[in-house]
Amino acid sequence: MKQITISADLQVYDSVDELPKDVQHLMQQAIEARESSYSPYSQFSVGAAISLENGEVITGSNQENASYPAGLCAERTAIFYAGAKYPGVKMLKMALSARSRNHTVEVPTPPCGSCRQAIAEYEVKQKQPIEIYFMGEKGKVVKANSISDLLPLIFDNSYL
Ligand code: THU
Repeated sequence: MKQITISADLQVYDSVDELPKDVQHLMQQAIEARESSYSPYSQFSVGAAISLENGEVITGSNQENASYPAGLCAERTAIFYAGAKYPGVKMLKMALSARSRNHTVEVPTPPCGSCRQAIAEYEVKQKQPIEIYFMGEKGKVVKANSISDLLPLIFDNSYL
């Protein structure tokens, strides 16, 4: 038996103000996208903004459903739309912000497991990492340089 240790480097910014200017702007777009969240069941609004190599920004928000599993997270709403609208264009950065209508979200809110898997698919497809910045409603922002820092042992098409 051999033990292996998996580690990841993440950067933590004290607030949005500490981010590079372009990321501040992208985060602002994620915050605005949050407003279009349809979340009557969880009261939890998530916004995502993805910057593309061609200068476009694609945004998305979580869309819930009375049949709960039929709903979709903000990250996948945005990334699937980016993939559908600009199939050959690389995704550079993703900004995420979450807010609850029940309490103040001050803890950076990372993408869920299914969204990590979806983001991984596009990183593999474009052969280039996507920077991911996530936060709650206010407070600290966490940056991952690649989805592989949030999802070790990625299952990708090399296993098929
Ligand atoms: N949600 C997201 O949009 N992204 C995530 O990564 C975590 C969860 C949404 C799904 C659901 O509408 C609500 O947040 C509560 O789980």
